[in-house]
Amino acid sequence: MRISVFGSGYVGLVTGTCFAEVGNHVWCVDVDAQKVASLQQGKVPIHEPGLAALVTTNMAMGRLQFTTDAAQAVKQSEIQCIAVGTPPDEDGSADLQYVLQVAHTIGQQMTDYKVIIDKSTVPVGTADKVRETIQAALNTRGVGCDFDVVSNPEFLKEGAALEDFTRPDRIVIGTDNPDKIIPIMRELYAPFNRNHNKLIVMDIRSAELTKYAANAILATKISFMNEIALIAEQVGADIEQIRLGIGSDPRIGFHFIYPGCGYGGSCFPKDVQALIYTAQQLGINTRILNAVEAVNQQQQQILFQKINNHFQGQLQGRCLALWGLAFKPDTDDIREAPSRKLMEALWKHGALVQAYDPEAMPETRRLYGERTDLLLCDTPEAALQNADALVIVTEWKLFRSPNFDFIKAHLKHPVIFDGRNLYDPQRLRNRGFTYYAIGRGE
Ligand code: UGA
Repeated sequence: MRISVFGSGYVGLVTGTCFAEVGNHVWCVDVDAQKVASLQQGKVPIHEPGLAALVTTNMAMGRLQFTTDAAQAVKQSEIQCIAVGTPPDEDGSADLQYVLQVAHTIGQQMTDYKVIIDKSTVPVGTADKVRETIQAALNTRGVGCDFDVVSNPEFLKEGAALEDFTRPDRIVIGTDNPDKIIPIMRELYAPFNRNHNKLIVMDIRSAELTKYAANAILATKISFMNEIALIAEQVGADIEQIRLGIGSDPRIGFHFIYPGCGYGGSCFPKDVQALIYTAQQLGINTRILNAVEAVNQQQQQILFQKINNHFQGQLQGRCLALWGLAFKPDTDDIREAPSRKLMEALWKHGALVQAYDPEAMPETRRLYGERTDLLLCDTPEAALQNADALVIVTEWKLFRSPNFDFIKAHLKHPVIFDGRNLYDPQRLRNRGFTYYAIGRGE
């Protein structure tokens, strides 16, 4: 098939590349000429395991092209995927300007039947707006052209994006024209839909809301566990034991019940807020979602509170070694990362940060620039030198089994604040560390 994918961010790049990999011809369109130029040289702007190699291979095979030329892309392809960002507005609502710009462009350029697939996370009713925008552009040109708008939300996770895209749990298709659309979508997804049928067909609004509901329930599980962790800590229980105890019930499951220093990333915080906003507009009081959001805001402060308590509010001039800046492992993404809230709070109180992250340091440097209270270190060990304590913010694999003797020898005080519960508290205490974790007593 011939496919255009608008937006070369996470979802767009992965979608375009995976569709090309199975033999389709894909045009990835982006308005950012610099980004397109560097993609044309095979430089992938995000760290996603396996993606760069796949992009290069498919470009070399001539199946994957990056362009700013939307007109050509629209003309050449029957399928138009919208995969641009929907960043939060100040009130928490999703900003649809990029989605609607793409819709306008498609309407300006199309000359024959097109399927417009919305893969961006968009509030309920967006497909209608996309349809109206395309129709308005067609009307302006005086062109009569048939088209269908399909909601096909994406459920991939950063760090596991290729695996998630190529082996999806489900492929949600929201359409108001199933007779025509289902065969097309079945063909498009056939390479990823082999063993049992994963297509779930529904109306467009349900598909749009499914995406928010999925992220919201995952965020709810995390905030719930973080709240139980607070209780566990106070009553002298261990949240990690509790996690095993409840996760073994298949009705609860082990996924997304890891307590930590709060969820981050470009999706959960934004999508929970957008769903709250949608509900508010309808006069619905989202008590659960409000609590999920509030608990997370508080949880993102928990490491700072523990550090501040330990040092009895005396943070001026202290130096903290931070392991992990990315919002989770296997990505260089620091959007809404708990590390940022922590660093900003530490800086406000006069502390210095020596940080190490395997992938996210360039992005951190880009965001914060050069500053005297942030030292980005080449190795995890270098970050420890003369630091007052070690703080673990992201559970990268290489932090799981460090040389504790080395840590102890190089920190000024043998103190570890662990926002991801990586270590056995008893073993660390036996080694002479003061060890603070999440929900595990102190
Ligand atoms: C999330 C969803 O998991 C994807 O299904 C969805 O497609 C994506 O958002 C999206 O809407 O685009 P992602 O943001 O990449 O994916 O990352 P997750 O693995 O879900 O992690 C989100 C945050 O929750 C991270 O900060 C992580 O550390 C935290 N988390 C996750 C926990 O604190 N505890 C857990 O048990 C799981």
